[in-house]
Amino acid sequence: MSSPDADDNPNKNMSNGDVLCPLAELDEYDFSKLLEKPRLLNIDRQSSLDERFLNELSIAMNPVLSCRDTDISLPRIYEPPEIISSPVGKRSGFNTPRSHTGFDAHPMVGEAWDALRRSLVYFRGQPVGTIAALDNSEENLNYDQVFVRDFVPSALAFLMNGEPEIVKNFILKTLRLQSWEKKIDRFQLGEGVMPASFKVLHDPVRNSETLIADFGESAIGRVAPVDSGFWWIILLRAYTKSTGDTSLAELPECQKGMRLILALCLSEGFDTFPTLLCADGCCMIDRRMGVYGYPIEIQALFFMALRCALLLLKQDNEGKEFIERIVKRLHALSYHMRSYFWLDFKQLNDIYRFKTEEYSHTAVNKFNVMPDSLPEWIFDFMPARGGYFIGNVSPARMDFRWFCLGNCIAILSSLATPEQSTAIMDLIESRWEELVGEMPLKVCYPAIETHEWRIVTGCDPKNTRWSYHNGGSWPVLLWLLAAACVKTGRPQIARRAIEIAEARLLKDQWPEYYDGKLGRYIGKQARKSQTWSIAGYLVAKMMLEDPSHLGMVSIEEDRQMKPILRRSNSWTL
Ligand code: GLC
Repeated sequence: MSSPDADDNPNKNMSNGDVLCPLAELDEYDFSKLLEKPRLLNIDRQSSLDERFLNELSIAMNPVLSCRDTDISLPRIYEPPEIISSPVGKRSGFNTPRSHTGFDAHPMVGEAWDALRRSLVYFRGQPVGTIAALDNSEENLNYDQVFVRDFVPSALAFLMNGEPEIVKNFILKTLRLQSWEKKIDRFQLGEGVMPASFKVLHDPVRNSETLIADFGESAIGRVAPVDSGFWWIILLRAYTKSTGDTSLAELPECQKGMRLILALCLSEGFDTFPTLLCADGCCMIDRRMGVYGYPIEIQALFFMALRCALLLLKQDNEGKEFIERIVKRLHALSYHMRSYFWLDFKQLNDIYRFKTEEYSHTAVNKFNVMPDSLPEWIFDFMPARGGYFIGNVSPARMDFRWFCLGNCIAILSSLATPEQSTAIMDLIESRWEELVGEMPLKVCYPAIETHEWRIVTGCDPKNTRWSYHNGGSWPVLLWLLAAACVKTGRPQIARRAIEIAEARLLKDQWPEYYDGKLGRYIGKQARKSQTWSIAGYLVAKMMLEDPSHLGMVSIEEDRQMKPILRRSNSWTL
């Protein structure tokens, strides 16, 4: 699919009437109150910026962050990069950032920045994203494309380094791709679907460039990129929060793009749960891996995107209706997730003793889960202190696997209560060998093997046990761990993980993933120079150096939801 790309002037349709609430204020805002009173409009932008900085400073100085680890760094400021030259379609000549504070960055940091800049993709002279992997040794498949999910850590690195332009370009370009007519064979996809990836095509004869995008119609297995739209909204909020520039999110086309994404996932159907029903392979794990139904990765991203959208949507005629629906969904979703996806020692013991075949609303075992379906490994894996959101919950099916991304996003979005967030970190600490081992971090735990592997993956040779999506270790996940650590006041955990990664990542040329129970081996089919491994490392480093960056990817708990969630009654199935 390709299309001549129309000229987008981000400011051309700006309406001056509706100005978004200052984001710093909204972050602290209790979203359930939005249903009761109108949003503040037309607030002076300068004051919102000042507040943002005050807010961020207070995050950096927050005693919670330093109570467990007194040597947490105060914000460090990187020098804005100097442009030496910027040849179209070639790598830019930005300088590697250096710290003002005399802090000597690890030598890998400079190498990582160089590699990240080499991965930039240009469209008509402007950087619009980063290529998935620069490795040419293997067959390219689609690793020469800009993936929406892969670009997120790159975008965060650029935002943290004071280079928001590429992020803005990416947001606007992908928005234009969303408006294409999308078809798979004769079936037309929903208007709001965002692409999994896109690519710039150069025509040397005509000396022109066009974009082609993949909405799942070319992807292996024709998988749906459900996460792309969520990441897009999350990134729009990160951009707005980091720059204080609300004008991008205010653009009518951005507002519309958001509404289209929301329309897809808030539509009414036959659902009996507030979670989002998905096909297998619709997220980072983009192959058949038994992550169909209600996978934690999607539910956590869904929750985060809803919360971000609430901060970004205007309360105009079109926005209002969505705001109401979002507020209702957030309440139902947080209740459902915190109650039914949460597993700790007590909950495990309760399930172990469950009665089955209970009818009516008094049922304790609401989903009719058979205690016999509890896998052997879970009894050893579950520490006395700690817990996590399990992989999936639906009728008679609980997927007890631990998934990294969903649990970290649950912490960052405050889908997890503060107690649950602490418990997730406790579990990571006590199951360090299994989850971090020799390379952070397991995408999921444990691997599925033999007969189960045959049934669940469809005999996928790329996903054999302890490889790739099936218990492989993905360096990109380091940034999520680091952010979750900063949020929960446990930076020492992230520091340990980063040190482990630093021993190998550069030497091994930034692999996409590692294999083995401990993540000791470079993945069987892992690409080298995998951009999100590089960017994930940089974001993790910058997050620890300057915890105020956390605000870009984190939202505080909504105060109104607290009373509903007393552990004694709501954590029981
Ligand atoms: C693989 C990963 C997917 C990633 C893509 C590009 O398909 O499973 O998560 O987006 O590679 O790196």
